[in-house]
Amino acid sequence: MPNPISRTSVRPVSRRAAAARVIPFAMAAASLLLAGPARADTAPATPTALPAEDGYNLWLRYVPVEHAWLSRYRTSATELVGQEPSPTLRAARAELVRGLTGLLGAAPQAATDATQDGAIIFGTPQSSALVKSLSLELEPAGTDGYVIRTVTVHGHRATVIAANTDTGVLYGVFGFLRLLQTRQPVDHLEIAASPKIQRRLLDHWDNLNGTIERGYAGDSLWKWESLPEHLSQRYTDYARACASIGINGSVLNNVNATPYILTPLYLQKVAALAGVLRAYGIRVYLSVPFSAPVTLGKLRSADPLDPRVQAWWRAKVAAIYREIPDFGGFLMKANSEGQPGPEDYGRTQAQGADLLAQALAPHGGIVMWRAFVYTTGSHSEDRARQAYDTFKPLDGKFADNVLVQVKNGPIDFQPREPFHPLFGAMPRTNLMLELQVTKEYLGQRTSIVYLGPLFEEALRDDTWARGAGSTVARVIDGSLYGERLTAIAGVANTGSDRNWSGSIFNQANWYAFGRLAWDPNLSARTIATEWVRMTFTSDRRFVAPVVAMMMGSREAAVDYMTPLGLASQMAAGTHFGPGPWVAPTKGMPPDWSSTYYSRADAQGIGFDRTATGSNAIAQYSPHVAAQLASLATCPQNVLLWFHHVSWDYRLRSGQTLWDSLVLHYDRGVDQVEQARKTWSRLSAYVDPQRYRLTADFLAIQEKDAQWWRDASIAYFQSISRRPLPAGAAPPPDTLAHYEAFCIPYVEGSPGSSPGCAPADVTVPR
Ligand code: GCU
Repeated sequence: MPNPISRTSVRPVSRRAAAARVIPFAMAAASLLLAGPARADTAPATPTALPAEDGYNLWLRYVPVEHAWLSRYRTSATELVGQEPSPTLRAARAELVRGLTGLLGAAPQAATDATQDGAIIFGTPQSSALVKSLSLELEPAGTDGYVIRTVTVHGHRATVIAANTDTGVLYGVFGFLRLLQTRQPVDHLEIAASPKIQRRLLDHWDNLNGTIERGYAGDSLWKWESLPEHLSQRYTDYARACASIGINGSVLNNVNATPYILTPLYLQKVAALAGVLRAYGIRVYLSVPFSAPVTLGKLRSADPLDPRVQAWWRAKVAAIYREIPDFGGFLMKANSEGQPGPEDYGRTQAQGADLLAQALAPHGGIVMWRAFVYTTGSHSEDRARQAYDTFKPLDGKFADNVLVQVKNGPIDFQPREPFHPLFGAMPRTNLMLELQVTKEYLGQRTSIVYLGPLFEEALRDDTWARGAGSTVARVIDGSLYGERLTAIAGVANTGSDRNWSGSIFNQANWYAFGRLAWDPNLSARTIATEWVRMTFTSDRRFVAPVVAMMMGSREAAVDYMTPLGLASQMAAGTHFGPGPWVAPTKGMPPDWSSTYYSRADAQGIGFDRTATGSNAIAQYSPHVAAQLASLATCPQNVLLWFHHVSWDYRLRSGQTLWDSLVLHYDRGVDQVEQARKTWSRLSAYVDPQRYRLTADFLAIQEKDAQWWRDASIAYFQSISRRPLPAGAAPPPDTLAHYEAFCIPYVEGSPGSSPGCAPADVTVPR
């Protein structure tokens, strides 16, 4: 939802409610977290002796392995054999040298042939005669993948990292280093890996003025003023990080795009960035406004059927390819939140997409056309319906080089949404998935919310479009309908902060997105475990509790923000902190308010999307729709998304809906409290700088969770008029107090006007 605003300096200091909580919800995570008596608010007794780290090196720290592993690994890394006829292979060698030097204390010798046991040979059959002579089965590597195998060369044991392309070799190098970083044996390797999805992109919502829409990690990564002359080291390190997880595309600028990006001035800057990223297998793409022929080209219209408009785009695209021969293509936000689009000219979304597709096709470029249409005045009876109603009738009408880019849920990156009904519903259209890595609705910079489980859920949801097993992952990887063009995008959480993502744990979301884009079948837990080992330590006394904490963190956020299928209850504009009372006001579209989504009234709460309501359920395949339509079978975690439910309705647990709602809020707060305690016991395993940052942010999150819980309960109780369940503490402040308190500025806004007008009240306790 719109209304971006800017950065926070004030946080509510809310008091932990006095009464004990009643819920013994011991998630697997919680039981681990609960062991031991440590107090969350005390500083660690034994400060760690580890050298301070600022997080810049992400998961590519390459710190020395423990003694036990050192000798094992050293015997498998005695010499490096590979030619570097291309920048990508040079990058591959540089990474091997950097990684092995860091991990093992010394770089292997450079060699032109395998002369001793433990050689590492890397390359493609084209770049390396030695790789060619091994006649490896490279078919499974495909275009982007790799094989890593233990082989015998001239009687010596060696490891070969080979691929069909240079980028594949680079990915293989990162894959090999990951084995060491996560302490896997490397003496008998038989690995073949290839990405399931062709285009794996980060969408940067970076503005040309240096701000980032919904960015919580400082300013834009791209320093437009000093481009193209100055190429910051950060561009290379960004590319390394992306390549290490298989990301191969970057949309450099905000979907709310300015036409200036298409001017020669900026295109030469884009070309310079493309030059850096290219060596790491990353293509650049641009967001463009549909009205560019008018605003930049000074044409009278941007009508897709107007030959002058078509000629303008053809010429512009040709100019781009002259600067950037491997340019990826365009991302388009049209007819959404005030952005222009083909509907302004009475044309369809497909006709709009075709305009760009025709211009890009001769150069091999693609269009990512967003399904996030959002027209004020249309679909105000149910915002969730608009994308499906607009796009489903257009199935089969999009050109081959177009992907329709669909957010994971039908509204907007909420803590939990059901899957978008377009998945599975457009068998003759290339559909791609858009996830949000930046945590716009999930606590932004400071909260620890690991998104792996959210991404995993989004990918595993079963559309039933072709019977059981028609998962969203299979829709987008092309295995369900056989699309030849496949893609996935994540809205980036990177910025100019030293630690890239605003917090150490936000880095895990970047990592998880990339790993799942490469292989949607990986589990969020496996990815978290890898990340923890690479980012901190492989010591299981640290890994186990931290992975458990991460795995429980998303559900905790759902619980304290929007349990049981509630959505869009955040403060208006900033989307930070609770705002369940936000009601439509004059001039504001109703679907920008919270009450539009919660529909809380004296009888109950929830949005009726069954046949008696908006009937959005009918947009799902019959099997899914039938399950969702019945109160008895609708999954409880999306209950209020689909149903208006009586406060006294008895859930499967036997609790009334009202009691359960309150208990979910409590459970969420408890989880954060436990996470904080867990972290407080782990200082010995982390350097002091990253330990302290995380400890401080967990303290903030605990206050925020409490604030969410208290404010939400105060509001909903004013409507339900039901007593709190036994043991639940009453909110310490009045509803009026919570309503009067708000945070006017949060990060992630280009504008300088406040997102709300805080009254002169104390921060909630
Ligand atoms: C959300 C977000 C906006 C963004 C929009 C989009 O509504 O709040 O800032 O522009 O999504 O995805 O286009």
